[in-house]
Amino acid sequence: MRPTKQIYANYTEEDFAVWKLLYNRQMEILEPLASEAYLKAVNKVNFKANEIPDFKKTDSILAPLTGWGIEVVPNLCPQKEFFEFLSKKKFTATCWLRTMAQLDYLEEPDMFHDVFAHIPLLTDKAYGDFFLGMSKIALDFIDNPNAIELLSRLYWFTIEFGLIHEKGQLKIYGAGIISSKGETHHSVDPKIKKYDFNVEQIMNTPYRTDIMQDKYFVVDSFEQLYKSLPKVRSCLESKLQTVA
Ligand SMILES: [Fe+2]
Repeated sequence: MRPTKQIYANYTEEDFAVWKLLYNRQMEILEPLASEAYLKAVNKVNFKANEIPDFKKTDSILAPLTGWGIEVVPNLCPQKEFFEFLSKKKFTATCWLRTMAQLDYLEEPDMFHDVFAHIPLLTDKAYGDFFLGMSKIALDFIDNPNAIELLSRLYWFTIEFGLIHEKGQLKIYGAGIISSKGETHHSVDPKIKKYDFNVEQIMNTPYRTDIMQDKYFVVDSFEQLYKSLPKVRSCLESKLQTVA
């Protein structure tokens, strides 16, 4: 049974060793490839190799900056609950870590993914406002599986697997890439397809969760994501009418 709240004293020596190893290994890979916004945000939330993040401390940093916080969940959260927490600016995260034996393959997200990869950018206002706006739209359509599928594509190609243009370079901000040793280099490989961010095209693009992605969408800024929210709603409404 996975923990439903973070009890810091329960972390073992192996947990600390796993965090340190993953943190150091991934930061080295990310330094030249990740968005500057993400790298700066890691410092803002005060994540370090030698310290598993203490959620109380992280929350006390996030709250005055953007009002976001962490809600501990034992495993991947059901969609409705996930969007309900997000609409209250609570990001659902696990608080347990993979073992040394599972370093590079895990069937469900642990806190290295949920916390290391997702939490830092919640200090960015435009990014957080996009996330919040998307979750409010999702709640308006929560009983419509077609709508949730289309929104999950948007979530997938931005929050999880998004790339961004920064100072003329292609950089990573999606959490699914940030926490994956293999996908970090793969995602910026020129041989892999890249498309400019386009809400309609994303909603027309199914995704697979069991492979490294074969295409990525690139934004120019997090403001662009935030400003796309009216388009997200209108695009969703017109697609649902077509389905109906
Ligand atoms: Fe995630």
